[in-house]
Amino acid sequence: MDSFFISGTDTGIGKTLISAMLLLASGGRYWKPVQSGTIEGTDTETVRKLTGLGDGHFEKESYMLEQPLSPHLSAQIDNNHIHIGTILADYENIQTRGRKHANADTDAVADTIDYNSLPLKSFIIEGAGGLLVPLNENDLVIDLIAEIGIPVILTSRSTLGTINHTLLSLEALRSRNVPVAGVVMSGPFNPENKKAIETYGRVKVLAEIPVLSEIVKPDLLLFGSRMLDALRT
Ligand SMILES: Nc1ncnc2c1ncn2[C@@H]1O[C@H](COP(=O)(O)OP(=O)(O)O)[C@@H](O)[C@H]1O
Ligand SMILES: [Mg+2]
Repeated sequence: MDSFFISGTDTGIGKTLISAMLLLASGGRYWKPVQSGTIEGTDTETVRKLTGLGDGHFEKESYMLEQPLSPHLSAQIDNNHIHIGTILADYENIQTRGRKHANADTDAVADTIDYNSLPLKSFIIEGAGGLLVPLNENDLVIDLIAEIGIPVILTSRSTLGTINHTLLSLEALRSRNVPVAGVVMSGPFNPENKKAIETYGRVKVLAEIPVLSEIVKPDLLLFGSRMLDALRT
């Protein structure tokens, strides 16, 4: 399976939940390069808890910022500065390590994590906030996505207002030639909004996630598999 960058039309939209679904269903790896807000716990911890998967499925964040604010501001408060180059170097290292472990028979690598059991390219990267969120004074999250160069899965809400937010996000991605793998809608079923997003956005809605009263593994697997099936067809 391929790598995907999970972004959204907003913060608190369901990116982490959808990442957990895809991770569990694919058995791949998860990475949150920029964690803005560590006070209330990290997204990596949440995905770990939700999926129950072990260390080998998780990569270390490039930036851990304390305040739950836009990354550019959160970094400023921490006397830190986000460099896209640092994140890209981490990405390259992760890929190289994955490749080395895939060739472990001929290439002995001293590392405690067993990547052999994991698919080489199965990689879920979760963004911070939405697409036009600043990382520093020059770069936005979407610039990082364009540099990494993998397809985006856009998380959107199902309710009123989503058509505008989703179409704007799709337009921003296309204007930078970022491939869009599809949209995942979260919230009460709204077939009209789904139809409008598919028609006007020229995009596939990979899954609709209902409001889950409790987030349990069978549901994560069910919706994750549904997304993977939709991505394959
Ligand atoms: N379909 C849903 N059903 C139930 N809870 C949801 C759903 N989508 C999101 N949530 C909850 O909303 C909150 C924000 O979602 P999260 O995945 O953390 O968003 P993001 O990563 O985009 O900030 C979390 O507590 C998450 O469990
Ligand atoms: Mg999140």
